[in-house]
Amino acid sequence: MTPKTLEVKQNFCAALENVSNMEQLEQLRVEYIGKKGYVTDLLKDMKSLSNEEKKTFGQEVNILKNEVNDKLAEKREELRKKEIELENSRMPEFDISIPADLKRGSYHPITLVQRQCEEVFKSMGFVVEDYSEIVTDYECFEALNIPKTHPARDMQDTYYLGNGQLLKSHTSAAQNAIYKKYKDALINEGKAIKAIFPGRCFRNEATDACHENTFFQMEGIMVDKNISISNLIFFMKTMLSEVFKKDIKVRLRPGFFPFVEPGFELDISCLICGGEGCPSCKHSGWLELCPCGMIHPEVLKAGGIDPDEYTGFAFGLGLTRLAMMKFGIKDIRDLNGGSLKTLSQFTDDK
Ligand code: DAH
Repeated sequence: MTPKTLEVKQNFCAALENVSNMEQLEQLRVEYIGKKGYVTDLLKDMKSLSNEEKKTFGQEVNILKNEVNDKLAEKREELRKKEIELENSRMPEFDISIPADLKRGSYHPITLVQRQCEEVFKSMGFVVEDYSEIVTDYECFEALNIPKTHPARDMQDTYYLGNGQLLKSHTSAAQNAIYKKYKDALINEGKAIKAIFPGRCFRNEATDACHENTFFQMEGIMVDKNISISNLIFFMKTMLSEVFKKDIKVRLRPGFFPFVEPGFELDISCLICGGEGCPSCKHSGWLELCPCGMIHPEVLKAGGIDPDEYTGFAFGLGLTRLAMMKFGIKDIRDLNGGSLKTLSQFTDDK
């Protein structure tokens, strides 16, 4: 071994002794066998050697490189063991040899219903969008054709933050952002906007069996050329029949919402009496489920879409309401109560 090679080797071994964590180890690796490391540098001296010398010197450097590599691996293993020991000494009560408790938790009934709706809409080509719970006044109201002084604001009092933002009172608050996100693909590539956006909503409301200050909705929109109310009825009927696992009859009644024109209340045939009339449906045979309508031209305009060229429908499905109907939950407060005894009763196949 040449004196220079020997020196590099001795220096490496001494430095390795002082390594006490993974970062230092990595540093040492780079210092010695990195691109500009000491071992790699040795090869620079090759130029001045004869062919025969080159061969032996090359082998020598290679052997050193392998040795360095092996020693680094050894040290790495040693450090890893030490880390595990340290971790174990910090929490002696954590015994990794105990078998896992196979009693698994359960999904919240709203999660179950939400996922089911998402699956159905995804299979019909809709994208699922997520949107924040804190929105601006513009997103929640103004962009939806509800100006500052509009009486429709009274029905949607919510929680205001110090900076003027608010907790969204309905999932419609995401509409504007979603039109803006997809409008270019609609206009330039002719791709219809088909999106659903489930989310948590808030209202400043006294709670009782039917009202909560925190609840879930799922908004849906479809915008393209020539979209009509029949498209809306088709998608809603398909989705509800899948969720309730039977053919669901729907009907539309006129309803007022500033962001749709015309606006509707979508009712489904009563799930309890099948439409005959019973106390649950107040003997009408119908249950009110989902407000909807054709998107108002002003709302499309605010989203950067020309209402003379494109039309669309929107709906605001009450996910909390849907979960209550599907699982026969009578008090809305049970859903936010956090009682595992109550919530773990619901499973996907009910
Ligand atoms: N955002 C409305 C609410 O929470 C519900 C709604 C009504 C949504 C009609 C819609 C719609 O998309 O078309 O009261």
